[in-house]
Amino acid sequence: MAERRKLIVVSNRGPVSFGCAPNGERVARRGGGGLVTALRSLVAHHDVTWIASAMTEEDRVVATESEHEPVAETARDGSAYRLRLIAHDDQAYDWFYNVVANPMLWFLQHYMWGLTESPDIDLGLHNAWFGGYLPVNESFAEAVVAELDRQPGAAVFFHDYHLYLAPKLVRDRRPDALTTHFMHIPWAQSDYWHVLPRHLRESVHEGLLANDVVGFHTQRWSRNFLRACEEILGADVDVAEGVVTHGDRTTLVTAHPISVDPEEFDDLSGDARVLEEEKAIRRRRPEHLVLRVDRTDPSKNVVRGFRAFGIYLDQHPEMHGRVTMLALLDPSRQDIPEYTEYLGAIQRESRAVNDRFQFEGWLPIDLQIADNFAQSVAAYKQYDVLLVNSVFDGMNLVSKEAPLVNERDGVLVLSENAGSHEELGEWALTINAFDVYGQAQAIDRALTMEAGERRRRAEAIAAHVRAHDLQAWLDAQLADLDRVSARVSA
Ligand code: F6P
Repeated sequence: MAERRKLIVVSNRGPVSFGCAPNGERVARRGGGGLVTALRSLVAHHDVTWIASAMTEEDRVVATESEHEPVAETARDGSAYRLRLIAHDDQAYDWFYNVVANPMLWFLQHYMWGLTESPDIDLGLHNAWFGGYLPVNESFAEAVVAELDRQPGAAVFFHDYHLYLAPKLVRDRRPDALTTHFMHIPWAQSDYWHVLPRHLRESVHEGLLANDVVGFHTQRWSRNFLRACEEILGADVDVAEGVVTHGDRTTLVTAHPISVDPEEFDDLSGDARVLEEEKAIRRRRPEHLVLRVDRTDPSKNVVRGFRAFGIYLDQHPEMHGRVTMLALLDPSRQDIPEYTEYLGAIQRESRAVNDRFQFEGWLPIDLQIADNFAQSVAAYKQYDVLLVNSVFDGMNLVSKEAPLVNERDGVLVLSENAGSHEELGEWALTINAFDVYGQAQAIDRALTMEAGERRRRAEAIAAHVRAHDLQAWLDAQLADLDRVSARVSA
C-alpha cells in the first residue's frame, strides 16, 4: 500500500449531505454519483480533507455551526476524514450550477447543440458567469488556500467542470501548491469550444493549465484538450509526451480510465435488498431482457434508445411478448429546463412505443424513474443485453459495473462515444449514438448471438474490469503527482 498522504479533495458534490428527520434530528445521506463513489477509497488510505458545496439547508447549518471550518466525519467503512462545506450565496450557486456548469459547460463538452438555434450567449449567461461561476470558484479557491495554510505540503485534487477557474485563483496566491485536476466528462474539440466567447474559453483552458496535472479518462479526451490548448491559447504542446507549456508553467496531461471496486459489486450481488429486487425482476421478466440504467440526462440518449427498440420490434414481430426493455432511470438536475423537458421526452417516447406494440400481459418498455441502486444491481444480474448508447460520455461506469455481476452472459451494446469504449470496445457490439437503425440491428445481433460467443465476450469484459479496477485508477493519480513533484524538485 502506498504511503499515507495529506490530500485536499475539491468537488462540487461532497461525499455526504445532511438532511433533517421529522423529529428534527440531523441525518447524513452518503453522496452518490461516480465521482464520489470513486474517491471513497482515497479517504480510507490517506489523510483527506474534502471541500464541497453545501447542497441542502442542513448542509448550510453544518457549515455555519462549524464557522466554515472543516468538521470531523466518518466514511461508510469507518475511516475518518475532514469535511469543509461551503455555503455559497443562493443566487450565485443557482447561476453556477443551473446556468453555467449545467447546461452550458455540460452541453458544450458533450456536443449537445446543433448550433443553428442554440445556445444564445446572452446577458443572462454573462451575468451567471461573473456573478455565479466566478464567485463560487473564488469561494472554493479561498477554502483551498485556507486548508493549504493549515496543512502545508498537502496535494490538491480538483474534480470536474464545476471548478475550471479555482486552480488559477489558488496558483496566484500559492505558487508552490501541488495541484491536479481530473475531468470526469469528455473534452470537446477546440472548434466546438468556440461556442464560448474568447475570454471565457481562454479562462477555462488557462484555469486548468494552472494545475501541475490535468487528467482525463481516455486518450481521446486528453488529445482534444492538448490540441485545444494549442489552438485556443497558442500554448506549446507535446502531444506524445502529454506536456503543455504556457507562459512560465508546464502541465502534465494524462489519461487514466476510472473504474469500479469489483469486491463491492461481489458483495452487493448477495445483498438482501438486491436479492429482494431481483426476485421482483425475475417475476416480471419475459424470456429476454434488454436493460439500460442511466440518469435522465440528455447525453445518455434514452429517447433514441427507445426509438431503436421500437424499430427492432417493428422488424421482429416474432419477438413480441418475448422481450422487454427495462429502463431504470435516476431523475437528474430537475431544476434545469433542458432536463425537465428531456424527462418529458423520455416518457412520451416510451408511451409511444408501448401504445404501438403492447398487448395484454406484455409491456415492451418497462420505464422506472427512481433512484434505486439495489434495483439497478439486481437488473445488472438479469440482463441479456445492456444498452449504453450515450451521445457522448466521459466514461460510463454502468458499462463496467453491470458485467461484473451479470449471470446470463449478457451482451454489451456500447456507444463508440462512451469513454469506456476505448477499453471495452473489442468485446462489445459497437454502435453509433445517432444511428437508431444500427442500434436496432445491434439489439437483434446481441439477442441472437451464439452462446459461446456471448460467454467469451462477457468474461473478457469482467476480467478486464477486475484487472483495471478503481485502485489502479487511484494509484495512477498518485503516481502522476510523484512524477510532477520529482520534476519540480529536480
Ligand atoms: O460525470 C460527472 C458527474 O459529476 C458524476 O460524477 C456524477 O455522477 C454526475 O456527474 C452527477 O452530477 P450532479 O452532481 O450534477 O448530480
